[in-house]
Amino acid sequence: MKLSAALFASAAAAAGVNGSTPSIVESLLSSIPSNVVKGPFNPFPTQFINSYKAPIQAILERNAYVARNGSELLLSGTRWTAAGANVYWLGLDENVQPAAGQPFYAPYNASYPTKGRITEIMNTLQVLGGRTIRSQTLGVSVGNPLSVMPKLGEVNEQAFDTIDWAVYQARQHGIRVFAPLVSREW
Ligand SMILES: *[C@@H]1O[C@H](CO)[C@@H](O)[C@H](O)[C@H]1NC(C)=O
Ligand SMILES: *[C@@H]1O[C@H](CO)[C@@H](O)[C@H](O)[C@H]1NC(C)=O
Repeated sequence: MKLSAALFASAAAAAGVNGSTPSIVESLLSSIPSNVVKGPFNPFPTQFINSYKAPIQAILERNAYVARNGSELLLSGTRWTAAGANVYWLGLDENVQPAAGQPFYAPYNASYPTKGRITEIMNTLQVLGGRTIRSQTLGVSVGNPLSVMPKLGEVNEQAFDTIDWAVYQARQHGIRVFAPLVSREW
């Protein structure tokens, strides 16, 4: 088994599901015997080992639950705050005129955001240190032909495409999503 695969597998197993993984990466890396691999990589240079720390920690954290400890929230044993942005348009957008031929509902200027636009905002938020997104069109999507439910009882499967992509990209970026299921704004 390759070192990277072994590290990811044991890190994932050790992470469990409760969000508390204090110093897991440190203890994991320091527990690797220096003779685990024969040949030119024996012993591992510290620099080589260290290059695994940040990626493993990021993967652990994006797959762990945020857990409550008294009055605070923890992720991987560290205090977690729900700082982030209101990106309401991840499911349905009205800021952009889509390319010709793309779904568009002129009375509300409604269109689906492109996958690139969704990925870009996740990148931006992550770089700025954001950890959450509130996005009402992921949960509230009714009343026009591009909505999840254009009319009561009628489901528009196409609307899930951008919603699914947004949830997937949030996971990839370690960003938690608030998707309101009711809204009194519109
Ligand atoms: C959880 O809260 C208790 C009481 O405030 C504190 O002593 C402890 O250090 C906290 N645990 C973590 C992992 O922060
Ligand atoms: C749609 O967008 C156009 C161009 O930005 C704008 O002039 C128009 O007022 C918008 N319509 C609605 C319903 O917001």
